[in-house]
Amino acid sequence: MDPCFVDVTLEFLAVAFHSILFYTRIYHENIFEMRRKYNFVVYHCFHPEVNRYIDMCLKSIAECLKSDTMQRIEFATTDEEYKPLIKFVFDFEKNFTFDDTSDAYLINCEQNLRAFCLKLSSMVHRFVNLPENKSFTIFIHTNESTVVNISTNPDLEEFPLVEVDFKQKEAETIIPIRRLTIRNHNIDTYIEFI
Ligand SMILES: *[C@@H]1O[C@H](CO)[C@@H](O)[C@H](O)[C@H]1NC(C)=O
Ligand SMILES: *[C@@H]1O[C@H](CO)[C@@H](O)[C@H](O)[C@H]1NC(C)=O
Ligand SMILES: *[C@@H]1O[C@H](CO)[C@@H](O)[C@H](O)[C@H]1NC(C)=O
Ligand SMILES: *[C@@H]1O[C@H](CO)[C@@H](O)[C@H](O)[C@H]1NC(C)=O
Repeated sequence: MDPCFVDVTLEFLAVAFHSILFYTRIYHENIFEMRRKYNFVVYHCFHPEVNRYIDMCLKSIAECLKSDTMQRIEFATTDEEYKPLIKFVFDFEKNFTFDDTSDAYLINCEQNLRAFCLKLSSMVHRFVNLPENKSFTIFIHTNESTVVNISTNPDLEEFPLVEVDFKQKEAETIIPIRRLTIRNHNIDTYIEFI
């Protein structure tokens, strides 16, 4: 596994998760600070409990990326009963013909990631009708073998593992954000309104 792919993806997902929290107004803006990333202003939540949960998710995601078993990540904003209302989806696809020397300095990659942040910030008007007591959950779709590794890793013992119920409610509207390329993987990002 390309260590650069793992590091760049984890850093990007952290930025994406915090940005979604900010733009969907799950928490009040006074627990966010501004940071600069990809030559763009991004918002980072500094609430310890929120960060603990996000960091735990990122550690589990790191396991999946390292073993190349990541299929999909869904960041769901939910109502107070944790029913998803909007899902931010990241679909992973490996590029088997990737040439290691292409975009070695990650210039195109960073432009992609910046464009993602820009597009997300321009969609904020679509998130205004969420209920008052909203929350969020992060779902990771991976292989059974990685699930076993996560469940036996003492660092990740609090991570809730559930078998997917395939009869989930269908999305009413799907809006693509964009396709990202990070090293030898393509990540399709889109939003499902349920
Ligand atoms: C895979 O990567 C190569 C560059 O290394 C690129 O030319 C090709 O279009 C990529 N394929 C897909 C499906 O993204
Ligand atoms: C949100 O939660 C608080 C505390 O549990 C409750 O008092 C309030 O009625 C809830 N608001 C809505 C709109 O459900
Ligand atoms: C993960 O599961 C998919 C579908 O069952 C399978 O095609 C793939 O080979 C598995 N990958 C690994 C690394 O186990
Ligand atoms: C599970 O963990 C073992 C030991 O760390 C590692 O060798 C193996 O590749 C991992 N498998 C997956 C699918 O993550």
